Amino acid sequence: MNDPQSPRDPLLLDHDADGIQELDNNLPSWWVWLFYLCIAFAVAYMLYYHVLGKGELQIASYQAEMATGNALKQASISRFESSLGAATPGAEAAVIDRGRELFMTYCSPCHRVDGGGLVGPNLCDDYWIHGSQFADTVKVVWNGIPEKGMLSWREQGMKPSDILAVSSYIYTLRGSNPPNPKIREDQAPATPTEVYE
Ligand code: HEC
Repeated sequence: MNDPQSPRDPLLLDHDADGIQELDNNLPSWWVWLFYLCIAFAVAYMLYYHVLGKGELQIASYQAEMATGNALKQASISRFESSLGAATPGAEAAVIDRGRELFMTYCSPCHRVDGGGLVGPNLCDDYWIHGSQFADTVKVVWNGIPEKGMLSWREQGMKPSDILAVSSYIYTLRGSNPPNPKIREDQAPATPTEVYE
């Protein structure tokens, strides 16, 4: 391949692969320093985190952050729970719109899109199983009635502001008289099948 007569670059290495040859240049000194630095860093890192155990590993710092987050969440849940009794329905369009959206997504399968009741009771009349005050509605939505099939929306992960929004939306349904509402529980026939037909 190489012509022995022609002058040859002294850096040229002997091996060649399919006619491709390489020069034996020195590595740039910035690269070499970077390489040494990486080695030094790795040694320092291993000593600090794994040998001396001074630094927090990823798992530990994740758990610490989760604990801080959970404490914040608990504090805001307790604040919300202690304010439940004094809750008042919001009337701003943004709140009602958000409430309607939540209702259509999460509640309508059981309470019907117009709130007339299906599996869950009619939410449009003046008859309430768990109390007619706005605060009663908020408490039911927050805590649920697990033994009767009404979910706890706190456990479902609904935010306090959303709980208030959806309760405020329900508040606007009062007196809306949807057609064919679900029969009141205390007036329903004894055989529940007739109710669901
Ligand atoms: C899986 C079905 C189901 C879903 C979904 C559901 N509910 Fe209910 N809900 C019920 C049942 C059943 C009851 C009746 C509980 C009882 O008889 O004690 C009820 C009761 C209620 C009550 C109390 C009514 C009263 O007369 O006191 C409110 C308020 C209510 N639900 C709101 C909501 C809201 C808001 C949502 C959506 C975020 C929702 N529900 C989603 C089944 C459901």
